[in-house]
Amino acid sequence: MAYNLLKGKKGIIFGALNDKSIAWKTALRAHEEGASLVLTNTPVAMRMGEINQLAGICDAPVIPADATLMADLENLITRSMEHFGGRFDFVLHSIGMSPNVRKGIPYDDTNYDYYLKTLDISALSFHKVIQECRKLDALNEWGSILALSYVAAQRTLFGYNDMADAKAILESIARSFGYIYGREKRIRINTISQSPTMTTAGSGVKGMDSLIDFTERMSPLGNADAEDCADYCIAMFSDLTRKVTMQNLYHDGGFSSMGMSEKAMNQYDKSFRECP
Ligand SMILES: NC(=O)c1ccc[n+]([C@@H]2O[C@H](COP(=O)([O-])OP(=O)(O)OC[C@H]3O[C@@H](n4cnc5c(N)ncnc54)[C@H](O)[C@@H]3O)[C@@H](O)[C@H]2O)c1
Repeated sequence: MAYNLLKGKKGIIFGALNDKSIAWKTALRAHEEGASLVLTNTPVAMRMGEINQLAGICDAPVIPADATLMADLENLITRSMEHFGGRFDFVLHSIGMSPNVRKGIPYDDTNYDYYLKTLDISALSFHKVIQECRKLDALNEWGSILALSYVAAQRTLFGYNDMADAKAILESIARSFGYIYGREKRIRINTISQSPTMTTAGSGVKGMDSLIDFTERMSPLGNADAEDCADYCIAMFSDLTRKVTMQNLYHDGGFSSMGMSEKAMNQYDKSFRECP
């Protein structure tokens, strides 16, 4: 159901790879809610993925950019402003990648070149996007910038590897830049800490099936899926959340506040009966 929440608003969405991507679902919902969009991803992801199909549905141009490269970001934001005929209102940073995770290298034997890549792609790119938007004065007052995070920034979850460190930095950037951009231009910056979700990035996480089952049993409302996350992003881009900034917003069915649930305890007891 559409509510016209983003009527007249314009925004850039990073990270739609295929129809499982959280960014893909968010672009569809933003389009339904009346927003004009620019879509972006790396040239490689554009070749591998299906972003042009999404662009057709959303009637949006696709402008390639590697979010770790300032020149690409400058080109993306300048061309987006040309496309929109001026400033825009929201940005979704839905980007994450760890070469250590991809190559199965454990946290306690990390490859530091890969580690730096993880931080650059998954965290510093958020800083770079915001810094470039600010330099080009690209956002309207009361604009909204969002990135997607994960509870591994606060709690240790086996196998999440150096992405946990990247998410902790990402959330800190939202606070540090949220102060500066909020004070100057009333632009809000937040992160949404999403439930584990079966996307291309998600399926790279060690033990993802078990993790999804565990958090489903632990959360009173069950896991939030990618569509639920898209809805939350729309709310955060809309004028209904204008005073929310510098927050890490849990969107996880209650998981982050739980210790032990009845469902999880039953499963734990059962596993002991089966394998004493
Ligand atoms: N899937 C989950 O379980 C989960 C849970 C919490 C948070 N998140 C976060 O959600 C975000 C989106 O991930 P997703 O689950 O939709 O997976 P996804 O694989 O669909 O999206 C990740 C995107 O990052 C893009 N990307 C990688 N390197 C890039 C670069 N240098 N420049 C620009 N883009 C680049 C990829 O091309 C891809 O489109 C990520 O930040 C991820 O960490 C995911």
